[in-house]
Amino acid sequence: MHEYLPILIVGGIIGVFAILFVLAYAAIKNKKEAIGFDRNMPDGEIVRRLMAYARPFWKDFLLVLVVMVVSIAYDIISPLLIGDIEEIIKDDFALSSLFAMVAVYAGILVVSLVCTYFQSIILQKTGQKILSQLRLDVFTHIEGLSHNQLNQIPVGKLVTRVCNDTNAISMMFTNILVTMVKNVFIVLGVLGAMLLKNYMLTLMVLCFIPFLVLFTVIFRKFTRRVYRRVKDATTDINTYLSENLSGIKITQVFNREREKLDDFLDRSRALKKAKQQQIFVFGIFRPMVYMLYISSVLCLLYLGGRGYIKDISFLGQTISSGTLVTFYLFINKFFNPIQTLAEQFNMLQSAFASAEKIFSVLDMEPELVDEPDAIELDEIRGEIEFKDVWFSYIPGEWVLKGVSFHIDPKQTVAFVGSTGSGKTTILSLICRNYDIQKGQILIDGIDIKHIKVASLRKHFGQMLQDVFLFSGTIRGNIVLREDSFTDDEIWAACKYVNADHFINRLDHGLDEVVRERGNNFSAGQRQLLSFARTILHKPAVMILDEATANIDTETELLIQDSLEKMKNIGTMLIVAHRLSTIQHADNIIVLSHGVILEQGTHQELLQKKGRYYQLYTIQFEAQQQALRAAGHRA
Ligand SMILES: Nc1ncnc2c1ncn2[C@@H]1O[C@H](COP(=O)(O)OP(=O)(O)O)[C@@H](O)[C@H]1O
Ligand SMILES: [Mg+2]
Repeated sequence: MHEYLPILIVGGIIGVFAILFVLAYAAIKNKKEAIGFDRNMPDGEIVRRLMAYARPFWKDFLLVLVVMVVSIAYDIISPLLIGDIEEIIKDDFALSSLFAMVAVYAGILVVSLVCTYFQSIILQKTGQKILSQLRLDVFTHIEGLSHNQLNQIPVGKLVTRVCNDTNAISMMFTNILVTMVKNVFIVLGVLGAMLLKNYMLTLMVLCFIPFLVLFTVIFRKFTRRVYRRVKDATTDINTYLSENLSGIKITQVFNREREKLDDFLDRSRALKKAKQQQIFVFGIFRPMVYMLYISSVLCLLYLGGRGYIKDISFLGQTISSGTLVTFYLFINKFFNPIQTLAEQFNMLQSAFASAEKIFSVLDMEPELVDEPDAIELDEIRGEIEFKDVWFSYIPGEWVLKGVSFHIDPKQTVAFVGSTGSGKTTILSLICRNYDIQKGQILIDGIDIKHIKVASLRKHFGQMLQDVFLFSGTIRGNIVLREDSFTDDEIWAACKYVNADHFINRLDHGLDEVVRERGNNFSAGQRQLLSFARTILHKPAVMILDEATANIDTETELLIQDSLEKMKNIGTMLIVAHRLSTIQHADNIIVLSHGVILEQGTHQELLQKKGRYYQLYTIQFEAQQQALRAAGHRA
């Protein structure tokens, strides 16, 4: 009996650890699932949809599978070969037979390496193809969302969806999935080979498997927790960074660097702590698996050693030194993949969570879709009519309440009203950025719902207060769409809006570099560029929403002049706070809280002595006061 004592001791130690772990496992309560882990979509559906992306590449995956099986052959054959070598060199041997064995070994090694190389090349290529397809799908889908839907998702999140989440999925295809399949094959293959070689020793190794499974199950629970913490802390720090880096100038102006730094430190510490916990959990699990591995090797050597040295059979099968060497190598090959499988399971879960997030973006039905019989409009005259239009951004909170007006082609119409009265809303409804709830909007007598959105927007030119310039060149920002314009045409447009003066002063003229969001140009210059952009494309309807707000009085006179000229191009809709800018409009529509109070020309409205008259006198007096104050100072 006492000859099995060492084995009992090993078993006892493992048993104690197992009991400790089970106790720890029971002590830990299941907390709420992590943002990164909780899912509504069943795993099956996620797999099905991911497979749809992989399906076009099934030939590549099949090839990978074949290559993989060949590369696995090394893992299974090499221990057997080395065992045989041990058998040969044990006694007197012919050098030639050793050479032959080594040559076979080297051959298998080379073939396996070549296969592994091709496997990763094919996988990476395929993974990148799938990834770019997925990215493209997500981006196209986001482009098709309405303003309303886009308002609901923060930009930072969209960037994460397009970049990080797609990346996690690509990792799954190129790395996780294949290693998993490969490891399963290796485990099964090694098991089979071991059974063939010596089933009794195999049974001995298998005795350790229940412990391995137990440790893995416990480990999974702990890693899930730390993975969740790391993921939450990372999201937190990213959100904080993206918001605060865009507002960093404000932070500096208000001297809030200290507070912001403290906030950041808190988050950074949380992430550090989570990461440390993660390292700790892995730091426990890996040695535990190692302990099992070492224990099984010890048992092997003990049992095998006894069997070999005393030259007796172990429970029926004789054990030679070659068998020992082979099993020693097999045990290693057996434990490694199992440990990796356990560790990768979490990564797979995380990739699934990313996949679900991507699919949830892809599942957002675009709200603005063309009707099946929507028409294409090549030319429009620029007649606009609102018929009792009701609109709200948030259900129940009406922003426009029964607005009706009519604009003839080539008319210039101004919208006047206090902030929040609905001017910008009216202008964005004309471009169908949102769909209205009640009433009708007609362009040239056609309901805009019956016109293809792209073909409708083509006829509008918008000039807004916040001009968005893309990074690139001045030329690129004026031309914008791919239509080819000659430099003469571009210069003509710039002259028309008096933007040529400042462009001429730049070192590279039209080729001057525009940095992100055009931050190397003044707000006024950006507006002049947006005017040039609009004029160049000669839209049938031009929309100016507080587009003259950033322009000095001197430039404004120039703008007045170009506005006069622009009148000949098409219908013009203007919102301007300086009433002097719109005095010459053909019609002025006065709004208050989403209702039209009055409309008419400047003179008509002044005579009416209504809201417009009030606004005008207030501005006029303020102006006079400013002039008098300036006079006093001088
Ligand atoms: N995207 C939006 N979501 C919800 N409410 C909005 C949105 N845009 C504007 N509003 C609301 O609609 C009203 C009219 O806004 P707007 O048309 O921009 O006014 P104006 O241009 O006349 O200053 C405001 O009360 C504003 O709060
Ligand atoms: Mg506005």
